[in-house]
Amino acid sequence: MPKITYIDPSGATHDVDAEVGATVMETAIRNGVPGIEAECGGACACATCHVYVDEAWREKVGPPSPMEEDMLDFGFDVRPNSRLSCQIKVSDELDGLVVSTPERQA
Ligand code: FES
Repeated sequence: MPKITYIDPSGATHDVDAEVGATVMETAIRNGVPGIEAECGGACACATCHVYVDEAWREKVGPPSPMEEDMLDFGFDVRPNSRLSCQIKVSDELDGLVVSTPERQA
């Protein structure tokens, strides 16, 4: 089972087991990880599941789609490594993925 580490703005880490095929957003919600709201339920329509992908993982995770990029415009404190976590699918290749949550969601 791939592991994902979420780091909140205070620096606290939350290590969780993720299911292959679930999204990074769903994995956070299921495990009670704070800082991800996911108001639209994963439809790429709210930008409240915004995370920063750890630099070491950026290439593997890949860039946002054009639709995701448009939605990210509504995110808070968007950076080059910003992604919407509902648009990142967990795979074995992402075992060990590290993402951080922003100070607040949109
Ligand atoms: S949950 Fe709404 S955009 Fe990701």
